[in-house]
Amino acid sequence: MCIRDGLEQLEHVIFAGFTHEVGIRLAEQLVRLVPPGLSRCFFADNGSAAVEVALKMSFHYWRNVGKPRKTKFVTLANSYHGETLGALAVGNVDLYKATYGPLLMDVITVPSPDCYLREPGESWSEYSTRQFAHMEATLAAHADEVAAVIVEPSSAVHSHGVSRRSAVTSPRRAKRDQPEHFGAPRGDKLARLTG
Ligand SMILES: Cc1ncc(COP(=O)(O)O)c(C=O)c1O
Repeated sequence: MCIRDGLEQLEHVIFAGFTHEVGIRLAEQLVRLVPPGLSRCFFADNGSAAVEVALKMSFHYWRNVGKPRKTKFVTLANSYHGETLGALAVGNVDLYKATYGPLLMDVITVPSPDCYLREPGESWSEYSTRQFAHMEATLAAHADEVAAVIVEPSSAVHSHGVSRRSAVTSPRRAKRDQPEHFGAPRGDKLARLTG
């Protein structure tokens, strides 16, 4: 019924210099849900497209502030971010990437806080903090070329059909300590986290 109602008002809309009532209402509702200071919405069709948008925004931000050398993305080992070329490049699952290697941009990969791999007796938080040292060292070494770190907290470690969880410590801490390296948050994955 909703789809039919929508079609009777507008046949097709692309958000290129155009908007409409439903889009505005959704954006206003989303802005009420996210942390203060996030006041803009950019809609994308699916997860991979949302990753492409976040990569492009991060890259573009640094150009706009006069730092065009900051073009590299940092990703976690075993992470998965989708199948389009940018999303595939910032993912780290060889099974999906190998064939398309020549088409993909280079990224910087750091060990993940995959808590499945923690030592016996080590807590999730301790392991994540220990693994975070790799991220800190990488960001310090590549500060002049890093555009953003890509982390999807709900499945930062996703390999061969197995999704494992990290302690929330890692993504939160990474964002707290190095906020300038973080790209735009992706609404659909925020939804997935709460859903
Ligand atoms: C963590 C993660 N990121 C991105 C994607 C890509 O989303 P989509 O399939 O909507 O392009 C997926 C898809 O499974 C995913 O699990």
